[in-house]
Amino acid sequence: TQVGLADRFGRVATDLRVSLTDRCNLRCTYCMPEEGLDWLAKPELLTDDEIVRLVSVAVRLLGVHEIRFTGGEPLLRRGLVGIVGRTTELEPRPQVSLTTNGIGLARQAQALKDAGLDRVNVSLDTIRPDTFQQLTRRDRLQDVLAGLEAAQAVGLTPVKVNAVLMRGVNDDQAPELLEFCLEHDYELRFIEQMPLDAQHGWNRATMVTADEILDQLAEPFGLEPTDVATRGSAPAESFTVRGGPRTVGIIASVTRPFCGDCDRVRLTADGQVRDCLFARTESDLRTALRAGAGDEELADRWRRAMRGKLPGHGINDPSFLQPTRPMSAIGG
Ligand code: GTP
Ligand code: 5AD
Ligand code: SF4
Repeated sequence: TQVGLADRFGRVATDLRVSLTDRCNLRCTYCMPEEGLDWLAKPELLTDDEIVRLVSVAVRLLGVHEIRFTGGEPLLRRGLVGIVGRTTELEPRPQVSLTTNGIGLARQAQALKDAGLDRVNVSLDTIRPDTFQQLTRRDRLQDVLAGLEAAQAVGLTPVKVNAVLMRGVNDDQAPELLEFCLEHDYELRFIEQMPLDAQHGWNRATMVTADEILDQLAEPFGLEPTDVATRGSAPAESFTVRGGPRTVGIIASVTRPFCGDCDRVRLTADGQVRDCLFARTESDLRTALRAGAGDEELADRWRRAMRGKLPGHGINDPSFLQPTRPMSAIGG
């Protein structure tokens, strides 16, 4: 009998990404419009107990050993520290990480560390206040930088930084971002922009590609590819800087998809399992949960949800259709 979250193509999901809220306090142009979105209503959201229950099923019955909390912005979730604490108490203890925009992280870093959080990834696309304002439509750069420092100080390490480059906005800032991260010992990864924005404004022709980013950085920083054998299912290709040990990563989701090695599954803030960021369908665990389903039934439903997982995201197919839910509702 099959115990884990296997799909029809032999991949097994062991990495669960849980969106804790679809709300955010920034308005990154590659993600949301200025006015925000139609947020999920409170009764639709899983409660803290419901989240822990589903995570517990994944960890105890389905072989999931990595949990990443995302959003929207997960620091906006009141119960975050409690959810993290209860997740790190599960047996076998999963690795637990957080992907955040960093706002408010300075205030919560120590409590999160004490709750057992292992590490954080922080989104930071620019270190210039004016570009930050233009890109996120908010003047919060200092909060993010303070959050990064706090995470590093309390040992939520390695601290990783995610940067999306937008043409005409910050596409010439890759070198300064890298210098900044090297200086602070943050592990920087550049991400190709994916068609997941609520406004459906993604454009292949203007997307800044992994090759362009590498062209900007390779010589000045003496980049060398690291041993590919260590990559596993990680989305980032890694390069050493000036002989090492520091590295920089590139997440080339569009031009060099890594779907064949995918080990991920997602749970949305309203309790839907998504087998892929780009899934066209979701499986409703919330209804079963609220109807009183037991652990085994929930596990069975989850296993069945994986059968529809497609071999790849299809972004490069002529017939590609963007998912109806934007990234902020799916969980990054
Ligand atoms: P690490 O374990 O720290 O390497 O985490 P990560 O890079 O997987 O997670 P993070 O949340 O920091 O995501 C970084 C970027 O990778 C984001 O732009 C994500 O949307 C993208 N990403 C994460 N998971 C997937 C995925 O399953 N498919 C694709 N195509 N991109 C993904
Ligand atoms: N394409 C690629 N990355 C994105 N992110 C948000 N929207 C997109 C997109 N359309 C990034 C965020 C965050 C991570 C979870 O995903 O900047 O770092
Ligand atoms: Fe996996 Fe889908 Fe992401 Fe590809 S796009 S790596 S299949 S979740």
